Amino acid sequence: MFKKKSPIGLDIGSSYIKAACLNDTKAGYELSMFEMVPLQTGVIADSAIADKAALVSSIKELLRKANIKKDGAVIGISGHSAVIVKKITIPLMTEDELSASIKYEAQQYVPFDINDVDIDFQILGPNSETEEQMDVVLVAARKDITKDFCDAVDMAGLIPVIADVDSFALCNMYEINYGIEKRKNIALINVGASTTNICIIQSGMPVFVRDSIIGSNLHTEVLAGSLNVSMEDAERLKMGRSVEDVSQADVYMAIASASEEIFTEIFRSFEYFRSSIGDESIDRIALSGGAALVKGFPEAMSNRLGIEVEVVDPFKKIKIPDKLDIAYIHDMSPIAAVAVGLALRRAGDG
Ligand SMILES: Nc1ncnc2c1ncn2[C@@H]1O[C@H](COP(=O)(O)OP(=O)(O)OP(=O)(O)O)[C@@H](O)[C@H]1O
Ligand SMILES: [Mg+2]
Repeated sequence: MFKKKSPIGLDIGSSYIKAACLNDTKAGYELSMFEMVPLQTGVIADSAIADKAALVSSIKELLRKANIKKDGAVIGISGHSAVIVKKITIPLMTEDELSASIKYEAQQYVPFDINDVDIDFQILGPNSETEEQMDVVLVAARKDITKDFCDAVDMAGLIPVIADVDSFALCNMYEINYGIEKRKNIALINVGASTTNICIIQSGMPVFVRDSIIGSNLHTEVLAGSLNVSMEDAERLKMGRSVEDVSQADVYMAIASASEEIFTEIFRSFEYFRSSIGDESIDRIALSGGAALVKGFPEAMSNRLGIEVEVVDPFKKIKIPDKLDIAYIHDMSPIAAVAVGLALRRAGDG
């Protein structure tokens, strides 16, 4: 028997495309590849593809850089206009019964036409308050958006094998690295350039998922606007580089004010979680995404929300062989979180 090649986790964000591949070895997971390439502004807009030709050419560039041939790819879908994940409570029934009726059950919760979405679900178990009911995580992803991403990946020369949800990828990445903590509420927060994914897990299961359209682009915009510099210079300042005639104190102030808006949005989601799930507190935040690299951002988040914040290390339990650029991969690790989670999926794992 030939060992089947693991698929590539392909995270197409609005500012970078990231690719990761993991080998399953006897000693655990080993990273066989991690690469990223920047995407031009506007190629991805509102979590959908706005310029397919440009996306295909950037994916091809990534494949060349990573020396990838025609491999299987797991892609991630995110954004509130592309996918909805919701915990619902419905009458007790078997998995087969739910498969037959999920479309009907889902209708009232899904803001899209029910025929335009792919529906998936996972039964969490009996509801703790009512014996005749059970809790289910419902997933509804817009078919047209998933298809568009699959087409682009196919045109670039890969074989799309699984479409996953970014927040679920984060859960898988977190679980293999940090394990499952019983009765703990952990908020996995991925702050990218234009999206923030929030996924709250309870004993390892996702019970609250929400994507909002705020991200670290706001840092760049506030820096550019308040310091009167170009977007390119603002991006440099955000990354800790210096720009002529700009004081560090002003940079600090601009970053703090943009961060504050991001934290307010996260705080709102937490309030919503508390009101919809019951008076539960959040024990810890596991932060990922490019914003985790913005100086002072994790600490400020912890102060503002009053919750411990840990920047996740998606490679905590993954061996990185010497032939890869270990220092670079560690520096970029918060950005790699979703790609690693996608790379954990295997065709047929359900
Ligand atoms: N070294 C760094 N220091 C500060 N910020 C950084 C650094 N590297 C990247 N960023 C910022 O991180 C963001 C990109 O992060 P990420 O790759 O997680 O986003 P994305 O997945 O492309 O976007 P999204 O998922 O929101 O569409 C950009 O806003 C970028 O400016
Ligand atoms: Mg992203």
